[in-house]
Amino acid sequence: MNSNDDVVIGPAAEADYDWCARLMAGTEPWITLGRDVPRCTASLRRPHAELFLARRGAQRLGFILLQAQGVAGSPYVASVAVAAEARGLGVGSELLHFAERRYPAARHIFLCVSDFNTRARALYERRGYTLVGELKDYAAPGRSELLMHKVIE
Ligand SMILES: CC(C)(COP(=O)(O)OP(=O)(O)OC[C@H]1O[C@@H](n2cnc3c(N)ncnc32)[C@H](O)[C@@H]1OP(=O)(O)O)[C@@H](O)C(=O)NCCC(=O)NCCS
Repeated sequence: MNSNDDVVIGPAAEADYDWCARLMAGTEPWITLGRDVPRCTASLRRPHAELFLARRGAQRLGFILLQAQGVAGSPYVASVAVAAEARGLGVGSELLHFAERRYPAARHIFLCVSDFNTRARALYERRGYTLVGELKDYAAPGRSELLMHKVIE
């Protein structure tokens, strides 16, 4: 198991947005959902969202986009992605841990996962997220977004 002690998560700078948008647009699930760079950029810049970057030194590893009161007044993970070469090393888990600690008064946190993104869903289930709803034909025709919820201990 790799140590991620040297992974730093903090607010994204203006120069990070383009990197994050390109990461999104170039990877699943956003390829299947038809999200190109302009649409991903718009998503990252949505009102009331905060973008955080994970880095190791000067190297960008991934990001997480949060909305403090995104679902029913509770925090919502709007997007999370790790660069392909850095996946499977625990960075995504670090980003989720960060989100779950970001709002100390929050007792609940939500996210959505595409129905075909079985590996991401498995990660969320291992972290204690459970399925609470299905949004049919939501992000693309014929695809569902699965709303998941976790109680923050
Ligand atoms: C999902 C993701 C953020 C997890 O980050 P990570 O650093 O790879 O995650 P960790 O190392 O902490 O955990 C590994 C787990 O992530 C999931 N995962 C790994 N690669 C993945 C991929 N390409 N797509 C989806 N999930 C993946 C798996 O559940 C994996 O566990 P496994 O190796 O036992 O199958 C990252 O893999 C990613 O960016 N995937 C593509 C974009 C995506 O699916 N984002 C989520 C949208 S809801």
